[in-house]
Order: sequence, then structure tokens, then C-alpha cells
Amino acid sequence: MLNQDKGDIKKRILTEATKLGILLNPEALLILVENYDEKSLPTILSKIAEEAKKRNSVVVSREVVTSVIGASIRAEISAGVHTHFLAKDVEDDIEILKSYEAKQVSDDLEARRQYFADRYSKISSMLRSRADMSPYYPLRKACSLPDRSEGKTIVMVYEKRENYIVVEDMDFSTKILIPRDCDKDLREKIGRLLPDSVVGVSFYVSNSKLFCRSIIFPDVPIKKFKTIEEDISVLLTSDIHYGSQKFSEKAFLRMIKWLRDGGVTEREREMSSRIKYMIIAGDLVDGVGIYPQQEKELQVRDVEKQYGGLSNLLSQIPEHIKVIVIPGNHDATLRAIPQPPIFDEYAEKLESNGNVISLSNPCMVSLHGVKFLIYHGTSMEDIATFAKNASYDRPENAMEIMLQLRHLAPVYGSRTPIIAHGRDELVIEEVPDVFHTGHVHVFRNGVYREIKLINSGTWQERTRYQEQLGIMPTPNIAAVLALKNGSVSQIRFD
Ligand SMILES: [Fe+2]
Repeated sequence: MLNQDKGDIKKRILTEATKLGILLNPEALLILVENYDEKSLPTILSKIAEEAKKRNSVVVSREVVTSVIGASIRAEISAGVHTHFLAKDVEDDIEILKSYEAKQVSDDLEARRQYFADRYSKISSMLRSRADMSPYYPLRKACSLPDRSEGKTIVMVYEKRENYIVVEDMDFSTKILIPRDCDKDLREKIGRLLPDSVVGVSFYVSNSKLFCRSIIFPDVPIKKFKTIEEDISVLLTSDIHYGSQKFSEKAFLRMIKWLRDGGVTEREREMSSRIKYMIIAGDLVDGVGIYPQQEKELQVRDVEKQYGGLSNLLSQIPEHIKVIVIPGNHDATLRAIPQPPIFDEYAEKLESNGNVISLSNPCMVSLHGVKFLIYHGTSMEDIATFAKNASYDRPENAMEIMLQLRHLAPVYGSRTPIIAHGRDELVIEEVPDVFHTGHVHVFRNGVYREIKLINSGTWQERTRYQEQLGIMPTPNIAAVLALKNGSVSQIRFD
């Protein structure tokens, strides 16, 4: 909408409102401008007048306007529905391969040692199975080899600097030097290395010092994307942030309406009719007390009401569509990852719809044999800090690094809270067909070694915090993955 158009719309709304004796506060006016629809304006304004009268409000607030607009969109949504959903003809096939429950943790040094030992052991056995990891030497032995020796070792990165990396294994710690004249491939890989990640190093010995020849990532094997016989699809989304003043309820409801009736074109109607599953990769609600002064940016200031409100919206999704939800850093569960599912008292509200399945962050689910690794993505902040080619607006690069390092959140002790206790559940042990994340509010999709990478954006307009960080979200887009051929479509709802 152009600014000049907005000015005209403002005038038109104010004139109509005055005729009905309505006084709008600036925020209420802004919402009406953003949701302007010439045809429905008179009806909406008269409903606002009724609602304001009921509430004894002299000046109409944003709460009154949003409640009226929300109700009118919901009524519109309930109006149309497909006569026949193609996805309904296919039986459900969902297998939960991994979902974590809350575990007792303490600040126990031995448990933390076990955690890193588990990480090292899992990733080093992936590396040891590779043909290019021979001859292998443990780090202590590598350091005692005579000059001109060559070999491979497996290390956890403690620190990376321009000309060396400080590394350790379960027994020894040392510095490995990066030759000044190293090739582009090595420089590029060093750029991707993250603290606390486990990698192979091909080395040579010179002047009793270890020099790095190349870095060997554990990586994922190349395999063909698994397709299925049935012509059904999965809608992938995340970061709804229900309860935030910036939640784009209108666009989100438009998406639900699309799931019910498929929009205007024949192609879209068919696409919508084939949706059998929906995955929401965290930040379902905005939460309360997530960051300082958040209450000033909340439309709904009670977590229970946030989940209740979202549940009402999700209840409009056709029943045959199974909705898989996981928590993000704004949801009501423990903060550190792996996060157990959203607390029962709130998840029950969502599950009361009958078609919602609440799992942990991360989790692994098989839909008709296609494996989905679903992870909110909090560690992308650390990856953007430490890796050269990752940034908030290119989440697919961070996803690629996670797969190459076979770990969802390698960096410990930085921004991402991690449960470092006992087993390391964040190692990517099983290779997925689809890797779905959210968190950075930017829609991007890509492919890495035949794995579909989908970062599914958001339903929240740009917040003040994002303005400070220079992050430009891409709201109101959903991804639709066709399981029959692996094609990914972006559908815009703004
Ligand atoms: Fe979010």
C-alpha cells in the first residue's frame, strides 16, 4: 500500500467513523488502515460502535478493533470449505522417531564431562567410519610423531584464531597451526568451524609442530530424497507469536481459510486440498517475560490466554490435517535445549482440538516414511556469530553448517542455553530427508545433499527489537512440501 493511499484510507475511515460518532485512538486507526477493505468497512465500524458502547468506552482502543476484526474474519473463514479434501482419502502415517521428555539436571561437573565425551564419541565414530580418515592417530600420539609424518586425528575445537586452532580430544590438548599459504578450501572450512564442534583434521608434522592440511567434516552422506506414492503435502510454518501486538492475525487466518477452501485458482485449490499435515516449528505464542519490557508489546498479557486464543484459531483447521507443534524460546516450557514439549497445562488447550500433536524441540518425525528433523533454531544466533558465511538473513547456510558438523547447537556457553548433562541429544545421529527450522523469522528454503532445508519465516511483523538488530523479517509465507515429488512451494498470505 502506498503512503498516499494510506492517507486517503485514513481520511475515509475517520469520516465514516465520525458519522457513527466513533472516536478512534491512533493505534485503533492504524489497525483499521492495515486491515482496510472498502466493502466491509461500514459493517466493521458499526460493530465497533456497538462493542464500544457495550464496554462504555468513549475512545475506541486497539483491543476493541482487533476483537471485531478477528470475529469478522473468523466468520468469513467458517463460510467456505472444500467439498472434498483429497488428503482425506489417504490414511495417516505418523511415526515419532524422537521426542524428549524433561530430565532431572544438576550443575554437576561429571555429568557435563560425560556430555562432551558423548558428543565426541558419537561424532568421532561417524568420522572413523569414513575411508579418508586413515591413518588415524589420537592427538597425543600425533604430537609425538617425527617431522614429515602425516596422518588424521579427531578433535573438538576449543578456540579458533586466524592462524591456528586450539583443539582437544578425550586425553590431550594442543594447538594446530594453519599454514599461511593454505588453499581456499581449507580457509573456507576454517570459516565454518564452530567452537565445541567435533571434526577430523588431516595434519603434517614440521619442526615438531602440527600443521593442518585439511579439515574433514563428519557431514551427511549423499542420498536420494525419499518420495512417496501418495499425492499429499505438508505445510511447514513457525513463529506465530500469538499474543504479540505484531502478530499478523489477518494473514494467519487467511492461511487457515486457504486450508479450508483453497483460494481462487484451480491449482491452489488442489494444492490446499492435498495438505495432510502441518508442522509448526516453535514460538507458537509470544509468551510473557521473555525479554525486558515485553509487556509493552503484548496484545494478550497472559500465557494461558495466548494458548487459548491460538487454540481457537487452530480449531478452524480442517480436522483431517494433523498439526505437529514443538516449542521455541518464547513457549511455555524449559528454556534450555533439548526443550521438552510445551507444558501440559498449555499443550492441553491446543490438543483439545483433537488433531494437534505436541512434541519436543528438537524432534524427529516420520510422515509416510519421509523423515523430518524439526528444530526451532535458537543456535542460529551463535552460528551467525562464529561462522563466516552464516547470518540471520541466510538461515539455510547455518542449517547447512549444522548438517556438516552433525550437531544442532555445537557452541556451548554462548547465547544458546543447552542442557549439558549426560547424553548429547543434539548430535544429528539420524540423517533426515527434511530439515525444518524457524527462529530467525526469515523465510528461506534450499537443498543440501538432497536434504530439503526449510526455514519457515514468521507470522509476526517487524518488532522494535528486530529493528535494533537490523533484522528484516519476511512474514506471512508458508511452505508447502509435496511428498510425491519433493517440490517446495511458497505461498504468501499478505
Ligand atoms: Fe520467533
